[in-house]
Amino acid sequence: MMLLHGTDALKAAAATGQALPGFVAYNLETVQAITAAAEIAGRPVLIQAGAGPFRYAGQQALMRLALDAADRSTARLGVHLDHSRDLDEITVCLEAGYTSVMIDGSHLPFAENIALTSQAVRRARDHGAWVEAELGALAGDEDVSTDAVASATAMTDARQAAEFVAETGVDALAVAVGNVHGFTREPVRLDLDRLAAIHAAVPVPLVLHGASGLPTEQLRGALARGVAKVNVNAELRRAYLEAVRDHLPDALPGSDVVGLWSAAREAVTAAALTVIDRLSTNL
Ligand code: 13P
Repeated sequence: MMLLHGTDALKAAAATGQALPGFVAYNLETVQAITAAAEIAGRPVLIQAGAGPFRYAGQQALMRLALDAADRSTARLGVHLDHSRDLDEITVCLEAGYTSVMIDGSHLPFAENIALTSQAVRRARDHGAWVEAELGALAGDEDVSTDAVASATAMTDARQAAEFVAETGVDALAVAVGNVHGFTREPVRLDLDRLAAIHAAVPVPLVLHGASGLPTEQLRGALARGVAKVNVNAELRRAYLEAVRDHLPDALPGSDVVGLWSAAREAVTAAALTVIDRLSTNL
């Protein structure tokens, strides 16, 4: 099967309100689980990983796992680099065959974010890949839920977003509109008016990071306002860990790692299917 190259799936998602899920994978089980979910659902999906998963698994090992799974699958899978601040890391992924990359200059002053993002766009174009960038900063940790609270001052500004997209030529823009990474104690409330203003100001699909635990009506509000890619990690991590916890008593007596990891993999597939279902309803 061909990998999901180009921005067609992203643009189709934007047009129909059926966002493309970007699921974070850390290891063999999560790569396989995400692939299985895409096959069962018959929907396009992005397998993604960034600095945290690469630190854990090794960039080469995890890249190869994801590319191999996507290549062999009957599903339409893209392989995406999540949250990268490093142009060399981006080049390694592009040379390996990644279909898209995210350059994250959101920690930088505006002009520096534009400069870094523009370089990433040039590199990606040479490899036929598309680029996601971020403007505005998201609270929270990408690999561990920290009960983060969004900061009003770090939210994306619509006018700046328009300038940013025009200057850099990015294909998709990740926004900060009250979303945070990981689970939160209080339900997240997105600034949907701000999101609508950004959507009206920029010509590219928007990306919502930090969708784990987001109330359904908030998610639907985002999908109706230009969000065409939705990132989910913590919900899959939680499903994995809960399955490990629940199956450990059965696995321990016989040291049955295959039984344990299979249960974890199935749980992640089920969690991913739930997300895909929430994202696949026509508006
Ligand atoms: P969560 O941390 O809410 O799962 O979001 C994942 C994400 O945005 C990855 O980039």
